[in-house]
Parts: sequence; C-alpha cells; structure tokens
Amino acid sequence: MNKKFYITTPIYYPSDKLHIGHAYCTVAADTMARYKRMQGYDVMFLTGTDEHGQKIELKAAEKGVTPKQYVDNIVAGIKDLWKLLNISNDRFIRTTDDYHEKAIQKIFRQLYDNGDIYKGHYKGWYCTPCESFWTETQLKDGKCPDCGRDVTLSEEEAYFFRLSKYADKLLKYYEDHPGFIEPQSRQNEMINNFIKPGLEDLCVSRTSFKWGVPVDFDDKHVIYVWVDALSNYITAMGYGSDDDSDFQKYWPADIHLVGKEIVRFHTIIWPAMLMSLNLPLPKKVFGHGWLVIGGGKMSKSKGNVVDPVLLCDRYGVDAIRYFLMREIPFGSDGNFTNESLISRINSDLANDLGNLVSRTVAMIIKYFGGTLSDVNIPDELDNELIELARQTKSSAESYLDNMQFSNALSEIWKLISRTNKYIDETMPWVLAKDESKKDRLNTVMYNLCEAIRIAAILITPFMPSTPAKIADQIGIDEKYMTWDSAGQWGIMPRNITVAKGDTLFPRIDPVKELAQLEAIVPTKEPADDKKSDETKADIAKGNEKASVPEGIASLITIDDFAKVELKAAKIISCEPVKRAKKLLCLQLDDGDKGRQVVSGIAKWYKPEDLINKTVIVVSNLKPAKLCGVESQGMILAADAGEDDVKVVFLDESVPAGSKIR
Ligand code: MSP
Repeated sequence: MNKKFYITTPIYYPSDKLHIGHAYCTVAADTMARYKRMQGYDVMFLTGTDEHGQKIELKAAEKGVTPKQYVDNIVAGIKDLWKLLNISNDRFIRTTDDYHEKAIQKIFRQLYDNGDIYKGHYKGWYCTPCESFWTETQLKDGKCPDCGRDVTLSEEEAYFFRLSKYADKLLKYYEDHPGFIEPQSRQNEMINNFIKPGLEDLCVSRTSFKWGVPVDFDDKHVIYVWVDALSNYITAMGYGSDDDSDFQKYWPADIHLVGKEIVRFHTIIWPAMLMSLNLPLPKKVFGHGWLVIGGGKMSKSKGNVVDPVLLCDRYGVDAIRYFLMREIPFGSDGNFTNESLISRINSDLANDLGNLVSRTVAMIIKYFGGTLSDVNIPDELDNELIELARQTKSSAESYLDNMQFSNALSEIWKLISRTNKYIDETMPWVLAKDESKKDRLNTVMYNLCEAIRIAAILITPFMPSTPAKIADQIGIDEKYMTWDSAGQWGIMPRNITVAKGDTLFPRIDPVKELAQLEAIVPTKEPADDKKSDETKADIAKGNEKASVPEGIASLITIDDFAKVELKAAKIISCEPVKRAKKLLCLQLDDGDKGRQVVSGIAKWYKPEDLINKTVIVVSNLKPAKLCGVESQGMILAADAGEDDVKVVFLDESVPAGSKIR
C-alpha cells in the first residue's frame, strides 16, 4: 500500500480578490502535493475558504447582501483562480458547508464535555480584520499589534477555552518533536513571545454578532471563527461525521503550510484543541514568509497587490509558478518586483530552458531530418553531463523534502546549464561538417534529449504543463516521464523523432515590458515620503507584524546561511575595467578552476596593492556582467566610514579554496 501524505493550505478569507501573496502559499502546497504524487504517495491536498466571522458579516452589510450571498460570489472566484493556477487540490472545504458546521458543533461540545470550555465574561479588545482578541497591554499604541488597525472594546458573556492549561504540554511537545514547527526561528518566537510570557484562556464564542456556527447547547453564542476555521483540517476528512474513514486514513496531517502571521494559531491554539480532543497533532507546521512589495507587505488596504490573473495572462501559468517558487527562499520574506519577474522569465526560462529545447530540436531536424538512429558512440566528454543528470533527482529531492523549493529548482537548473554547456563543448555544428562524425553527432543529440527529459520530469511539480510540451517536441513517450525514471540515464529509446513546437517561453523585451507593467502594478520601492503610513510601520518592524518582536523574523536560519558559499581566494592579478572608473577586475585563485570577479573598489585600492592578498569570495553567486565584464562572484568588503571601503583580507596562511563558515 502506498504511503499517505496529507497537506493543507490555510483556508482563505473570502475577500474581494486574492492576490499573488495568497497564490504563493497555494502554489507551494500544490508543488509539494504533485511531487509526492509523482513519488507514489497517496496524497490528500486540502484547501478552502474561511467564511464566518464579524468581518464577513460587516462586509456583506456594506454591500447590502446576506453574508452567504456575499461569500458564495467570492468563493466561486477563488475556485476559478486555483483552476487557472493549475492547483491540484483533492478537496475544497467551505466553513459554511453543512457537514463542517455540524462537526464544529460536536467538537465544541466535546471540548466542553472534557472540561476545557467554561462560561465567563469577556472584556477586552477585538480586531475584526484579524478576528483576534487582545488585552490592553498587548495593544501597540492602542491598535491591533498584528495589523496596526483600530480595535473595538468588546464586553460580553462568552465561553473560554482553557488554553493556559496547555502551556507546559505544548513546550514539552515542541521539545519532543523537533521539526514540528519550521523554520526553527518560528518555534523560538512562539516560545519566547507567547508561551513563556503566559498563555491566557482563550475566548471562544461571541454573542455580539450572528454570522457563525451557533453553540448547539447555548445558541445565542456563535463559535469563535478561529476554532471554526482550524477544525477544517479534520472536519474535511469526515471527523465528527458518520463516515470518518478519510480521517482515519489521512490524519494526522503531514504538513500544515501557513503564512508566518498565523503560525501562532496553528502551533498553540490548534495543538491545544487537539490535545483536549485526544487526537494526534499534525506532523509539521511550516510558516512561510511573505511576498512584500515596495518594502511593505502586499495587502489590499495598501493598494499594492499584484493580481495573479493578470500575470498568468501575460506570461503563462507555469512561468508565474516557477517565479514564485524560485525567487524567494521558502520561509523568508521576499520582495516582489516586476524587474525580477521579467529577468527570471528571460534568463531561466526563455534562455536556459526554452533555448535548450528549441536548439536541440532544430539541430536534430537539420542534421538528421528529425529522427535519430540507434547508434551510440560515447566519449569521455559525456561523463560529467551523465553523472550530473543521474544525481540531480536525488539532490532536488533532498531540498524538496525540506520544502526548499528554490534550492531544488537551482539544482535542476544546474543540469540545464550543464546541458547547454555540453552543446558548446561538443560543437555539433563542427561534427556535422564531417560525415565520419555523424554517428557521434547522433549520440550527442541523444544525450541532449536524455538530459532534457530528466530536467523536464523534475520540473513537473513546479510547472505542470511545460513537461508534456517538452516531451512532445523531443518525441519522448509518456512512460519515460515518470519520477523514478528521472534517476536513470539512457532509458529512452535512441531512435526518437522530434517535432518542432511553439516557443516554450517567448523572450520578453525587458525595457518595454517593464514600463508597461510598472504602469499597471508599480513594484519599484517608492520614495520614502511616498510610502503609506502602514508601509512605514511595516518597515519599522522589519516587515513583521508587531506581535513578533523586532528583528526576530528577519533573522535567518543556519540553513539560510549555509546557502551562501564563502571561500578564501588569492588575488593573482588585477586591472582597472575600461570605461568604468569605479571597477577593478580581479583574477582569483579559488583553489578550483579560478574565477574572475569585478569589484567596485577602484576608488580605495590600486591594482598593485591587491596582488597576492587573500580575500573572501562569495563563490555561488550567479554570474553577472558589470559594464560588460563578467563577474563570477563578489569579494567581501566593509563600509568603513561615510566614504570608505575596506576589503576583508585573510591571513596569507589561509590556503586558497578554504571554506569560510
Ligand atoms: N482565514 C485565515 C486562515 C485560517 S487557517 C485555519 C487567514 N486567511 S487569509 O486569507 O488572510 O490568509 C491566508 C494565507 O495567505 C495566510 O497564510 C497568509 O499568510 C497568506 N498571505 C496573505 N498575504 C500574503 C503575502 N503577501 N505573502 C505570502 N502569503 C500571504 O489568515
């Protein structure tokens, strides 16, 4: 029997329109679900909508419709968006679904019967947009510490959940289950900011509005929307219904994927509820970062939201999915800019991948009329490519297993780049001129197709539509596109027939496109005086919500740091870059093949002062051209004063190539 894998996204508030920040989490969950399915897991992927609460009641009233009419309309749009983005969810739960409402009432009663819910009187502050309760001391300048908006004083009879009782149990659970909360920094936040200062019992019912699930034994109360929402992860599997076979099969969830601001609901309130219900806890809660724009969190109230539909229409769904998963290390915040989007599409997709496929197909058509033969003339030149192709699957897997989507893609792109380099090395156009090299040329073409096949399989979880298009062009049968076969070289028949297809990713004119896109969705950082107050507040908090102490979430984990490869390198030669007063071009011995780095230090160093000095080089930085000269990395330097820069020199006894950590 296959192993099961149950993954969830948060259930979304039906706001007028979901933006690309919402799509980010769902695309990540979808990538994971597709990956696991390809690996042979029995996957359950759940998403849905969180439709109760005061916020929705108020919005519906503003529009002059009933809350149900209001949500029905929006939920249809959310489902369409997931369809557009090729989201492969197995189930979609609405908290207004009848079966969910019934199950919630049962859950509430169970918590009550277990002695964990009692009746009391609530007096405190309520933030309606966040649907969160706050005490006087938790407020920041009298506003909601999470979103900075106004709070209202609420005073009503209410039921309370004995959250305080679970503080020690939660701490013990975290300790016994490393990896339950990821990234680790979020666990520290939970312990230090919420549990250690003291957990208070949680108000879990409201009487001042109606749009919620009534407490069945006291129906002037509606159940607190977060208790209602969190329970979706089990009610969607049939918990509390007549048929709980899916619950038995899939629970506990393998991953709850959530944005960082709702980690506390998922790692404190939800586990405490499950403990009270005597149910197992989810295996992992992963708190990802936010897409930020122009320096602040993307949000409708700031008017800085990016519409995923617009982007998909312009560039295609797979390109947008790729960008979201490649650009931002999962777990950290990432700035969304039109520039980075266009540059990724042009360089990674149009140039690296798209060109590789179209060049290969064009060469096979030109040199062989489109069909290769069975002959095989291997050469030593092939070994490096074959070796890399064989092991890319396992390196991508090791990153995917840890939700490091960007690194997984970077591994796959190493193979794509290596395959492009193989064309330069084997020079098919030279082989084609010599009839006696025709069979060798046949092998080179086959090797290109094999490497492309492997890369195409590995990108499938990220970009579900592109691999089939590649397979059609290269003439690969579907049966050679399985996940397992991505670890095997040479399994595809040699006598394939290729077919020219549409350009996979058309190149974009960056200048023209950027101008057009910025006019629709400005993503460039606005001048300071143009930033909204909310954005300024975000920045002051390091893009964090105020409930999280300053700096904590902008800290990086040891894994993040490990992504930067620092090496000692000796400067062999150095010269100014022509027509670029600020730049020096350094040739470095990095203990490997050597590298050229361009550095903006000409103002402070003469070339001759640098020869034989040992510096620190960032060796896994993507090469870039500075004033037309390629720079393969950068050297570290300190801002030593208002207008002074000092290169970081190492003791000369440190051998070139030494790893810095
Ligand atoms: N309804 C609650 C979740 C209940 S789960 C039991 C909720 N909904 S939400 O619609 O406000 O947010 C849904 C998810 O979208 C959250 O995980 C949130 O972090 C994510 N995002 C909203 N804006 C985002 C960005 N700008 N960037 C990344 N994710 C963002 O919270």
